[in-house]
Amino acid sequence: RWLERTHVEDASSVLRRAIAAGHFREDTPAALFHDLGRVRARIAELGARFPEDTLHAVAIKANPLVEILRALVAAGAGLEAASFEEVRLAMAAGCPPSRIVFDSPAKTKDELAWALALGVRINVDNFDELERIASRIGQTTPVHIGLRVNPQVGGGTIALTSVATRSSKFGVPIERRKEIVAAFEAHPFLCALHVHVGSQGMPLASLVEGVQRVYSLRSEIEARTSPGRVRTFDLGGGLPVAYRPDDAPIPLSAYVDALKATIPGLFAGDLGLVTEFGRAIHATAGWAASRVEYVKQAGGERLAVIHLGADLLVRRAYCPDEWHHEIAVLDAEGRPKGGQAEPVTIVGPLCFSGDVLAKGLALPRIDPGDFVLIHDVGAYTLGMWSRHCSRGLPLVLGYDGDTLSVLKDRETPDDVVAFWSRSREEPPGSD
Ligand code: LLP
Repeated sequence: RWLERTHVEDASSVLRRAIAAGHFREDTPAALFHDLGRVRARIAELGARFPEDTLHAVAIKANPLVEILRALVAAGAGLEAASFEEVRLAMAAGCPPSRIVFDSPAKTKDELAWALALGVRINVDNFDELERIASRIGQTTPVHIGLRVNPQVGGGTIALTSVATRSSKFGVPIERRKEIVAAFEAHPFLCALHVHVGSQGMPLASLVEGVQRVYSLRSEIEARTSPGRVRTFDLGGGLPVAYRPDDAPIPLSAYVDALKATIPGLFAGDLGLVTEFGRAIHATAGWAASRVEYVKQAGGERLAVIHLGADLLVRRAYCPDEWHHEIAVLDAEGRPKGGQAEPVTIVGPLCFSGDVLAKGLALPRIDPGDFVLIHDVGAYTLGMWSRHCSRGLPLVLGYDGDTLSVLKDRETPDDVVAFWSRSREEPPGSD
């Protein structure tokens, strides 16, 4: 159940509530929905499976909406920031700095200085960054600094999201283990090891092997420094979800059991743990509904034109074979549609031919005014939004049991003009 997606009937009932409450009006082209209750339950399950003091720093890049981050923090999670802007988002969501983990392969000197002053945790990506930090740290600065190590376990089934290949740009490759140990000897402030193997498409064995390889550095570091020197181990994220009904997701319990069996030292109680899950928390908690604007015939195909396309689902455009989203059709009132299935191609609003959500899909007959429901869009969607054709971000609604709320207003055309203007204050023609 952990990774299960929202059922069509449940989505339909939330959509109808949103229409009745006036959130999703006739002139609203599309909206995203996020099940905050489900997200909260996932944080609770992380808490139950890992040792109690584990910091579950949810990857902001998976879903950066401040209201969603606020819900995560309220549920007891911390936040992982992949840029300084995400550190700011975490602060805006009320996350205490000691529960923010700052990762990025491109931190500037200023960003490092700000991060140190704020007291957020930093995962260092490379030796040059380590020297930058060393030159700024005073003896008494309270810091929590880890080193990201690339375990070089190879790629998974999706090249684009595999980050532990031999020549990956992330972290210090584990083949440089002597230098890694020497870095801990030279820099007493280094207190943590960090690994992240990939996102979607990594088999369980590779996830565990990646952690194991980096964990193997602990004893070498402690032999050359002092026992207990590695205070924290950051496992990263990477738990895949099932976008296709026949994909086998890796349940959290299976991952934790495999870690316990292979690396018992992680759970011995003398090491602080950090996780950085993103996709597994959000992907299946989010779904989208778009009105069907037109239905047209072209080359013998029936095409349904909707308001969300490759702007929301960028990956569908550049690796359509690897990325799939389940799709359903609801009638104009938001009820699941029945009847004879017929093939339809669903296309988005952008001006290139790759903007196709599904080709020749067998669905109950779609008519203009119906809704197309797109499943599993809770992670790496809005946060990767493409500004192509200058369309504004859609409305985002959240729900938690019976409570429905606006998580983000729809961007208006004026908001978009402001976005593309020289400065926020003076969009041309704004008077
Ligand atoms: N920690 C670090 C350091 C990461 O780089 C990532 C994801 C995570 C944690 C969270 O991983 P997750 O649990 O979500 O798998 N642009 C991509 C996804 C990028 C993920 C990158 N790193 C996409 O097209 O889906």
